[in-house]
Amino acid sequence: MPRGRCSPPFPSPALPVSTSTQHAEARATPSPAPGSAPGAGPYAWYRHWVPVAPLSFLDPSRPTPVTLLGESLVVWRRAQAGEQPPAWVVMRDACPHRLAPLSEGRLEAGGTRLACAYHGWEFDQAGQCTRVPQLGSDSKAAATACSSPRSCVTSYPTRERDGVLFAWLDASEEGRRLADESEPPKTLPDEATSAGDWIMNELPNDYKFWVEQGMDPAHANFLHHGMFNQYDAVPMEGGRVRDIDLHKGWRWEHRGYEKKNKDMHGLREFVPPFLIRVAYEQPSGSVFHIATLQVPIRPGVSRTYFKAGFSKRTPRDQQEAKAAEAVAAQGAAGQQAEASEGASRAKGPDETQAKATAKGSGGRGGGGFGIFALLGKVPHWVFSSQLIADQDSIMMCRQELLMRRQGLDRRSYNLNSRSDEGVSAINQWLELAGYPDSLWGGQAPAPAPTPGSGSVSSPRAPAGATYPGWPEAELPLDLLLSRQERHVRHCAVCQRGQKLVTRICVALTAAAALAAAAAAGLAAVAAMSPQGLAAVGGWKALAAVAVGAAALAWAAVQGWAFREERFVSGVAQWLRVGGFALLGKKMKKA
Ligand code: FES
Ligand SMILES: [Fe+2]
Repeated sequence: MPRGRCSPPFPSPALPVSTSTQHAEARATPSPAPGSAPGAGPYAWYRHWVPVAPLSFLDPSRPTPVTLLGESLVVWRRAQAGEQPPAWVVMRDACPHRLAPLSEGRLEAGGTRLACAYHGWEFDQAGQCTRVPQLGSDSKAAATACSSPRSCVTSYPTRERDGVLFAWLDASEEGRRLADESEPPKTLPDEATSAGDWIMNELPNDYKFWVEQGMDPAHANFLHHGMFNQYDAVPMEGGRVRDIDLHKGWRWEHRGYEKKNKDMHGLREFVPPFLIRVAYEQPSGSVFHIATLQVPIRPGVSRTYFKAGFSKRTPRDQQEAKAAEAVAAQGAAGQQAEASEGASRAKGPDETQAKATAKGSGGRGGGGFGIFALLGKVPHWVFSSQLIADQDSIMMCRQELLMRRQGLDRRSYNLNSRSDEGVSAINQWLELAGYPDSLWGGQAPAPAPTPGSGSVSSPRAPAGATYPGWPEAELPLDLLLSRQERHVRHCAVCQRGQKLVTRICVALTAAAALAAAAAAGLAAVAAMSPQGLAAVGGWKALAAVAVGAAALAWAAVQGWAFREERFVSGVAQWLRVGGFALLGKKMKKA
């Protein structure tokens, strides 16, 4: 055992007490080797780098609770300790003393120890107990107690990549070895200039629905009519998805879904089990990149991440890509060319991107996207409206509820156009991976209680968690659209933003009240003074104060509405715009 590693004997990290036997078996069973027959064994969800949170969302001054793949975890930042640089730590959120949540604890010893808030036991980044206050100055007893494996907390391997903290949730010896041999997948290509920070929400939709959504570009103009335009939608052209691989994933090439982008070349890649990469290349050579990460939290609840970027391909790159496409198309009929296509697919876009980077074509330092680099420095709550996520989430909630109430699954879908190819492929992959049983231990989506059946329970999430997930009833609109539940409680940037905006709103309200009082006072003086308005500097001065008061009041009202929509609830906005119909906007018909 490597020095400094702490291994609690009970409960084993591969046998969490909170999960079923099947679940534990799924965790403990190694993933079949890449290339082995798909579906040859249970899919090892815990032997992947699981996105924990965007680094910018985490608060280094306190421990943060997070649930991933059904496991309750605590995330904390260990401060610099001697030669050791600061590092993010992910541990099981249960104190070995009496199982209190460590996420309620405090950082001690200069930020190098996590202390349980219940009785003060302290732990280092490896999960090793370093102090039991109740043993006082009896150093021998303390050393014995702290060195016991029963005093350990399971600490998981972590990595940082592309601004995201990842954890490997199998802390067994074999799991750690596999973690050491792998890296989290690349999200955006190196040459892409990022168009802002990650957007991340925890939403009451099952993982299955969000990975389907990531493979369904044709919904945009209809579900988001008002921001897109349903009258601009065009039938999508696209290829077939072949070679769906349980471990390597698959890719899907398609054209655009609306008039503006119908000639673009779209490439969607599924990198199992959490990442979807999208590249939309316009005929001009500009490429819009999207990376999304979909992470199961509990059955019926997932975290969804989104980040976009831009790059530009030179005309020469485009010519080469076209030539490669032509060669691949010619060779598709023959065995030899089929092998060549396979090789080119295996290399994928990374090689093209690496080449583009080597040539310095666009991207960082290219100077073409300076405005986006600048916007990336603005806190995301300034520009990021959540209306699109509201529409996605509510539609998927209703879809999921109906399917659960009626016991339906993907076989009830009617997928009949090329635009459905991605949804069809992701469902085939889910079947190969044995989802949901392989992750949730045989918990099929429980039938949802129907309203009025007398069995509708109150939608309560587990303590410290967000939405209840399966098998609860339909969530009320205010919980569905709660900004706190989905985002603010997971994001230190928005927690700071909420405090700042609240202060600004209070200041604007106070200033408006003072200005209104001043205007009223001036009007009273003018009314009582023999000089009339001249006593207060004339009617223009009085009007200026009154207009100033009105402007401040208007700004305060706007500020409070902004604060409500960004940090508290989307209900007012949802009702104002008319939900899916976006009644406030009239779009032009073709
Ligand atoms: S439960 Fe953590 S110190 Fe007692
Ligand atoms: Fe945020």
